[in-house]
Amino acid sequence: MGKVYVFDHPLIQHKVALMRKTETSVKDFRELAKEIAMLMGFEATRNLPLEEVEIETPMQKTKVNMLQGEDIAIVPILRAGLGFVDGMLALVPNAKVGHVGLYRDPKTHEPVEYYCKLPTDIDKRQIFVVDPMLATGGSAVAAIDFIKQRGGKDITFMCLIAAPEGIEALQEAHPDVDIYIAAKDECLNENAYILPGLGDAGDRLYGTR
Ligand code: PRP
Ligand code: URA
Repeated sequence: MGKVYVFDHPLIQHKVALMRKTETSVKDFRELAKEIAMLMGFEATRNLPLEEVEIETPMQKTKVNMLQGEDIAIVPILRAGLGFVDGMLALVPNAKVGHVGLYRDPKTHEPVEYYCKLPTDIDKRQIFVVDPMLATGGSAVAAIDFIKQRGGKDITFMCLIAAPEGIEALQEAHPDVDIYIAAKDECLNENAYILPGLGDAGDRLYGTR
């Protein structure tokens, strides 16, 4: 079973609290998403493989550890997952970025696919699927299904806020995937929105309604 990491770092808790507040502006919301993605990404990339290489400092030759290759892919679930991309790219600027477009049907809450474009060598990459919200889990499960159908194997999921229902659904469908969460919330309401949550992440990132 994949591991579930819930961050207890004070900086992350503080920034998530700011994102939850109704009065937080679109600009601040977007900046906070980027900052949290960097803080979470720092920990989620802890196991990236290193290799020893020889370099020359101004003083002498020495052996140092550097990342092995450029074999990372970041895959945001559109739209709201885009809010995490810049923060992750700040950490791993050479990562490739794939996109999976899904929206939830407002009545059934089932994910509907409208786009999928992944790096052609996705099967060889360590993949970070990013989306701020894990509510029913339907979108994350479907996105990871698409990625696996196209050869993706080594997959980590990162989100801002998760409901227990979403964590359970994702673990059941994809037990090989580790899940990084900034905050675990209480439950879903009758419209499958997370409580207390932060509302509609896509709308808050882009100022739509
Ligand atoms: C939101 C969110 C997730 C999904 C989570 O996207 O960004 O993708 O809902 O819900 P689930 O776990 O129940 O599937 P939404 O469908 O609102 O689309 P958007 O990002 O385009 O606004
Ligand atoms: N999608 C969101 O944007 N927010 C929720 O609370 C649930 C799904």
